[in-house]
Amino acid sequence: MGKDLCVLAYSGGLDTSVAIQWLIEHKDVDVVALAIDVGQERQDLEIVREKALSIGAIESLVKDVREEYVSDYLSKALKANALYENKYPLLSAMSRPIIVKHLVDEAHRTGARYIAHGCTGKGNDQVRFEVGIAALDPDIEVLAPVREWDLCTRELEMDYAKARGIPVPTTKANPYSIDDNLWGRAIECGVLEDPWVEPPADIYTMTNDARAAACDTPEYVELSFEEGLPVALNGEPRSFHDIIIDMNLFAGRHGFGRIDMIENRLVGVKSREVYEVPGALTLIQAHKALEDLCLERDLLHYKLGIEQKWAELVYNGMWYSPLKEALDGFVSTTQKLVTGDVRLRFFKGSCVVVGRRSPYSLYDYNLATYDAADTFDHKAAKGFIDLWGLPTKVWARQRRKVGKDGEV
Ligand code: ARG
Repeated sequence: MGKDLCVLAYSGGLDTSVAIQWLIEHKDVDVVALAIDVGQERQDLEIVREKALSIGAIESLVKDVREEYVSDYLSKALKANALYENKYPLLSAMSRPIIVKHLVDEAHRTGARYIAHGCTGKGNDQVRFEVGIAALDPDIEVLAPVREWDLCTRELEMDYAKARGIPVPTTKANPYSIDDNLWGRAIECGVLEDPWVEPPADIYTMTNDARAAACDTPEYVELSFEEGLPVALNGEPRSFHDIIIDMNLFAGRHGFGRIDMIENRLVGVKSREVYEVPGALTLIQAHKALEDLCLERDLLHYKLGIEQKWAELVYNGMWYSPLKEALDGFVSTTQKLVTGDVRLRFFKGSCVVVGRRSPYSLYDYNLATYDAADTFDHKAAKGFIDLWGLPTKVWARQRRKVGKDGEV
C-alpha cells in the first residue's frame, strides 16, 4: 500500500518549502503541493511549482483563482463594506476561504487524508484554515508543521534546509512578514512590533508616500455601480477585477490607502499591523457613499450592525458558517437598488467623495431644500415633536416629583 497523501498549501517561501521535507520525514506522507494565485505581486508561480517538485513533492500544482476570488469572495466583502474594527478590509481573512476551498477540492481529487498549512500558532490564519477545512470536510485531518516543529529561529530553519538541499533565500532575510493579494498587502513583524516606531518608508510597495505623491494637482475618478458592484471606471465599462487592479494603481500613486493600526487577533493578542489597501478602501468608500443615497434610513442603519458582525465572523475564520451565509443573504437583498455613480477626488494621500447620483436616489431636493421649492411640511414638525418627546416629558415630570435618585 502507498503512503497517505497530504495536500500542502504551498507559497514557495522558506516555511512551506521546509514543510515539504518535514512532512515526508516526520509524518511519512507523500506531499502534493498546491500554490494558489489570488493576485499576489510576488514571484513567478511556474518557478514556485517546480521548486516544490525539486524539494520532493510528488505532485505540484498552481491554480489561478483570481476571477473566482473577485466574483465569489471580494464581491461579498464590498457589498458588506467589510472593515474589521472599522479599519481593516480583511485582505488576508478574505483569501483564506478560497484557498481552503481549493485545498479541500484537491484533497478529494487525490484521495488525500491530510491537508497541511504553514501558519504559526500565534496568528488568525491557522484558525481560518482549520475551521474552514472542517466546515468543508470534517473528516480531513490537518497538519501544521510550523506550529509543531522546533525550528524556532530562522537560522535553525535555514540549517535544516541547507542540510537537505532545500533552496534557501540568498538575499538578506526580509525582516517583515508579508501577505498580499488583489485586496491589498499586509506587513507585520520587524521594527513594526514596537507600536511607537513609525513604519519605515521602504516597507511600502503599493502606495506612494502622500507627501511625495506623484501629482501636484487633484485627479478625479468616476466609479459606476450596478447592484452594489462596480461596472465602469470613468464611464468605460470594466470588470470588477480590472477596476480593483486600476484603483490599486491609481489610488496608490496618490498615496491613498495606508493603514497603521493595533488590531485584536482572535487568539487574544493585540498586534501592530500595517496595510496597503488603496483599491479596497477606495471602493468601499465609494460604495458606502452610494448606499447613503439609495438605502432607506432604517435599512442603512441596520446594515451597519450586520456589516460589523460580517467582518468579525470572516476575521474569526467563520466564512463557511450558517450565520455568515445568512448575513450574505441579508446583504445581497440590500444591494438591488445600489446602482449609480460616485465621483472621487484624489490628492496627496486623500480620497474624498465629491459627488453621487442614482436612478434610485432617495434624496428629494424639494424635501431637502431651504429655498422656495421647499415642500416639507414645517407645521407637521410641531405635532411630530410633541409625540416623539412625550415619553421624555413624562419621565422628566416624574423625576422632578421623586428626585434624581428615586427618593421622594
Ligand atoms: N492580521 C491580519 C489578519 O489576521 C493579517 C495577517 C497577515 N498574515 C501573514 N501571514 N502575514 O488578517
